[in-house]
Amino acid sequence: MAQDATAPPGIDVHIPNAARMYNYYLGGKDNFPVDREAAERVLAVAPEARELARQNRAFMRRAVRYLVAEAGIRQFLDIGTGLPTEGNVHEVAAEVDPGTRVAYVDNDPVVLAHARALLSSTTNTLAVPGDLRQPQDILDDPELRSLIDFTEPVGILLVAVLHFLTDSDKPAELIARLRDAVPPGSYLVLSHVTAEDHTAAAQKGAAVYRRANASITLRTRTQITEMFEGFEVLGPGVVRLDEWHPDHEASLAGYGGQDLPTWFLCGVGRAL
Ligand SMILES: C[S@@+](CC[C@H](N)C(=O)[O-])C[C@H]1O[C@@H](n2cnc3c(N)ncnc32)[C@H](O)[C@@H]1O
Repeated sequence: MAQDATAPPGIDVHIPNAARMYNYYLGGKDNFPVDREAAERVLAVAPEARELARQNRAFMRRAVRYLVAEAGIRQFLDIGTGLPTEGNVHEVAAEVDPGTRVAYVDNDPVVLAHARALLSSTTNTLAVPGDLRQPQDILDDPELRSLIDFTEPVGILLVAVLHFLTDSDKPAELIARLRDAVPPGSYLVLSHVTAEDHTAAAQKGAAVYRRANASITLRTRTQITEMFEGFEVLGPGVVRLDEWHPDHEASLAGYGGQDLPTWFLCGVGRAL
């Protein structure tokens, strides 16, 4: 995306955009000045945001690798996909089995345009518009259903997206709708911003998003754990990003050699 404010039609470059801010934390170029300014305001109160974005991606990659290599999952529904970056779900899955199918879903047209461009030359993947707040529309999407077989186990990815839902969106009920659409032996991969031990800074960071296209709702460990209703949470449980089966890549993460505060919690559950 251009470094200046020249935007493709239909793209609002005057309101900070959560997907483009995340892209900025990750060092991407798919963002506009309004996104960079908002992201810098978050970084001023939470300088760890860059590292956490990287850790979040690393957690997602480890979880996908685990599900393909160890749990036999061969199809993923990734809702809240984000802008394509290094190590996308289909690339990680394909390292283990190139036949793995991945449906990307996002409610942001910028994300969709980029995902479709990236995927134009790939097989077994697609990107469709969809809003997590309308799960039935996602599940009924004919294009998506042409790729994902809901009689076979599915890996549902809700990675760094649920905090963009308010409590009145009833996220637990939305997850239950998805869970009811997939057979036992499917999996839920989830990460979520938390307000466990850094309340003042977290509130300030979240406040920046109130002026963005999606606001953030901080939730406690208990609330995030409750999102796994109907799933058996795999070890080590609902934990920090760097605690979920850390590997070499994860051990390289770590902010300035210091332990990060707990800003994010994550987990993987198996549908009962
Ligand atoms: C922080 S990014 C996370 C991207 C990716 N899942 C990851 O963890 O690297 C959040 C994404 O969720 C999308 N999103 C936010 N609210 C959504 C909703 N209600 N339905 C679908 N996507 C949503 C945003 O457009 C953005 O692309």
